[in-house]
Amino acid sequence: MTIDATARAHPNMALVKYWGKRDEQIMLPSTGSLSMTLDEFPTTTTVQLREDDGPDVLELNGAVAAGEPLRRVTRFLDLVRERSGSEARAIVRSRNEGPTGAGLASSASGFAALATAASAVYDLPQDTRSLSRLARRGSGSACRSIIDRMAVWHAGEDDATSFAEQIEAPELAMVVVVVDAGGKKVSSREAMRLTAATSPFAAAWRESTARTLEEMLAACREGDVERIGELAETNALRMHAVIQSTVPSVRYLRGASVGVFDAIEQLRADGLQAWGTADAGPNVVAITRPADAAAVADALAGHGAVRVVRPGPGARLVDERVAPASTGEAR
Ligand code: DP6
Repeated sequence: MTIDATARAHPNMALVKYWGKRDEQIMLPSTGSLSMTLDEFPTTTTVQLREDDGPDVLELNGAVAAGEPLRRVTRFLDLVRERSGSEARAIVRSRNEGPTGAGLASSASGFAALATAASAVYDLPQDTRSLSRLARRGSGSACRSIIDRMAVWHAGEDDATSFAEQIEAPELAMVVVVVDAGGKKVSSREAMRLTAATSPFAAAWRESTARTLEEMLAACREGDVERIGELAETNALRMHAVIQSTVPSVRYLRGASVGVFDAIEQLRADGLQAWGTADAGPNVVAITRPADAAAVADALAGHGAVRVVRPGPGARLVDERVAPASTGEAR
């Protein structure tokens, strides 16, 4: 009998960013954050328990993976095994439909899908809060991809209290502008460490983000899209400011990215409401109302490949299985 489970999860885009950990061991963030789970670019992951005594295997987009991606997955599965009392190793097959290197946090959809599928096969609790807490251990932002539509991640005090949950918010749309599909040179994890260690602005970033989160939660409750957009843009630019203030400086935004922020500002001057945000990469995402999304996408199309996204589903189990890699048949 083969024991396997497959889950699908989507990336999320933060409107209040997570940038910094107070405990890297158990992945506690220094502040809470808030995001929209997207309805595009899913990751689908099958976890199959091994019946022999071979090692964990990771297959990514049809190719056997080694190095850091495999180490991260093995470390995560070690935690799952510790909690489940099982010693079984696993074959993990993952397919990611995001545009390659678009900076759409495939680690968030990846660990949300992995936590969901692994919890099913290793018989761990499968309620949303447990899944969110577990996904957080793989990649912080993954705890938000467990959640439908809009999520707040409570920073929490310990492992039990740091999780994401759904919040009510007005309908939003986002226009993803891929200005550069190249991978990033410095990982978020590395750059977060550098920020804590070297930026003179790190404490100000934490304090202002905690305040912004409160204001953002109020704007969501009140359905105030304009306030949500303004807060999100300011918070994103503050995050990039603190990142650039590290030694050595890390700069994720390129000239083309700044060009998109300029274009979004011009759209507002012309009466079309949109606000910019960007994660740890050069690509920019315009936040807007669903009714304006097509016009914003048209206006930004000259800056890169554009894609309109809407609020999407949280992680869930699905029936299909990810096919084995064609090379190196998984044993
Ligand atoms: C800029 O969740 O990828 O996207 O927890 O170290 O795996 P680790 O980092 P990760 O960082 C995401 C940073 C961000 C902001 C955000 O999504 O809130």
